[in-house]
Amino acid sequence: MPSDASKQIGAAPERERWGSRIGLILAAAGNAIGIGNLLRFPGQAAANGGGAFMIPYVVSLLLFGLPMMWVAWTMGRFGGRHGHGTTPGIFDKMWRNPAAKYFGVVGVALPLAFVLYYAYIEAWCLGYAWFSLNGTLESAPGAKVDLALFFGEFLGNATTHNYFPGPTTALVLVVVTLSLNAIVLYRGVARGIEVLAKIAIPLLFIFCIVLAVRVCTLGTIKGNVLDGLNFIWTPQFGRLGDWNVWMAAAGQIFFTLSIGFGSLECYASYLRDRDDVTLTGLSTASTNEFVEVIFGSMIAIPAAAVFFGAGQIENIAAGGTFNIGMVSMPEILRSIPGIQIFGTLWFLLLFFAAFTSSVAVAQPVMAFLQDETRLKRPVAAVILMLFWFLGTLPVLYFYKYGVLDEFDFWAGTIGLVVFALIEVLIFNFAFGIDRGWKEMHRGAQVQVPRFFRFVIRYVTPPALLFIFGGWFYQAIQNNTLVPRPSLLYNVVERANYPGDFVSGTRPEWSEEEATRMRAQADAVFARIQEAVELSGRDLRGRADLRFLEDGTVQVLDLRVDHALQDALDSQALELYLSGVGYRYEVVDDGGRTESAAATIMIEALNRAPYIWLTRLLMVVFGVAFLVAIHAIWKERSAEGGVA
Ligand code: PHE
Repeated sequence: MPSDASKQIGAAPERERWGSRIGLILAAAGNAIGIGNLLRFPGQAAANGGGAFMIPYVVSLLLFGLPMMWVAWTMGRFGGRHGHGTTPGIFDKMWRNPAAKYFGVVGVALPLAFVLYYAYIEAWCLGYAWFSLNGTLESAPGAKVDLALFFGEFLGNATTHNYFPGPTTALVLVVVTLSLNAIVLYRGVARGIEVLAKIAIPLLFIFCIVLAVRVCTLGTIKGNVLDGLNFIWTPQFGRLGDWNVWMAAAGQIFFTLSIGFGSLECYASYLRDRDDVTLTGLSTASTNEFVEVIFGSMIAIPAAAVFFGAGQIENIAAGGTFNIGMVSMPEILRSIPGIQIFGTLWFLLLFFAAFTSSVAVAQPVMAFLQDETRLKRPVAAVILMLFWFLGTLPVLYFYKYGVLDEFDFWAGTIGLVVFALIEVLIFNFAFGIDRGWKEMHRGAQVQVPRFFRFVIRYVTPPALLFIFGGWFYQAIQNNTLVPRPSLLYNVVERANYPGDFVSGTRPEWSEEEATRMRAQADAVFARIQEAVELSGRDLRGRADLRFLEDGTVQVLDLRVDHALQDALDSQALELYLSGVGYRYEVVDDGGRTESAAATIMIEALNRAPYIWLTRLLMVVFGVAFLVAIHAIWKERSAEGGVA
């Protein structure tokens, strides 16, 4: 029955609620468990020295993860009581200051930016499940699929088109992925998100167990499973002073627990007023950590240790966070019988994990449209999906210009720390820690140790500030805020070669030699960048190369865009390619190296316009929400202060 209040113009309609306790727990787990656990965690742990990563990781869990988890659930339930599922409304209720709602804009603009690329990664996983099932990834003798190049071409991040003529496959996968998301969001919290979680989370656990058992029974090839586990679980105190490892660990905790996105708050806003938040927060964090540290470390990393040796794990991850999951895993799974089963399981696992998270990132936008602009759910879903689809297009079409990475840097790395900082400050000072602590324990099933009250008040805020400063400092140091041109090169007609074209430090190089070679390549690269910047466009070239048995590479012929001619002649290209350790290896033949001749395509990309476009897009999101919030609150106060 509509109450008197809901008959007033502009008053909050009856909010949706979770259908059951178990549904809520599974949905919350689905929110947190995602690509972060199974792809990003192994990638980050591997890239940051395994055991060296785990101590900062656990410290971050205690200092940021758990405290922010409880803060988020508390704030969200509080907001829900007042009819708000997103932070503009929540902050406004917690902090009686007209500016509060504007700070909340981060909690809606951020998920909107985040979901654009998150769902694209989700689409890759769906696609790879399909490629595994239909045998595309299987190794056919003679014409072995080069999985690194396959991935590159799939993303449009290659100069060649051996496997994919263009981005159509990726586009179709995006449409399918977004349609599935649309169905769930359209059906709403209890009938959509909760139902999805009840199906996907149990399946996810089953897939994890099957894969972990399969990996544990792989035996020994270049290493064994224990080497992989030792790599992650042997603490390395020597690298505790490494600032980058701390940054990576803290970032991983935020990402994996969905902290600082406004997403947990939104899920919490669908709680009933006396529903507990302490236990819910704890169970969300523990389920997520269970999947992350157990399955996240028992599948991809041990498998890589078996097939490539534990010494190689860090190198694999250095090629990109997703390399271990998207390139190494299929490589491993196709060499044991049954890629069709295990490969499909692996990628379906990733897909389900991502699916229950992407709806969670999108829900704040849905909630904003429903709670604040008072749109009906179907209309909200249509508007969101339209934005979502349009916003994914630049991520998809301009992947090679770094659009996804740019979104990830601002939304998935910097933004969430800023947001968490605003949130914890409001909780501590505007709302008041005493009131906050009491609110947290209203209907609580477990008492949070008082230690965490101290942490929330005195440790989390300065530590967040420290991290934020650290990232910014790093970005400025590495000059990553100024977009510079990048370089792609691939062998044309790849399928004719039985071996692999690989880049990277050559095993026989000493450390000094590696540094010297790298510097030599960097010098050439800097000149290429200058040429691109001067011309303001992409510059292309084509070179005939000979790869000799001793690992050197010779340039036989080179044709480049005239704007590139001064920066890149045959000798410079030779310096560059040998500097980055570009070589040819016949892998099927017991590791024997042979000489080969090949033609490569070179693309020096002018990334700046795309990067600025991405930044502009994010600013537009923020401004659009600011304007909307301003207008909505103004209208409400004109209606007589019903907010
Ligand atoms: N926690 C999710 C993951 O691990 C990502 C996510 C972030 C989901 C924010 C929802 C909200 O992949």
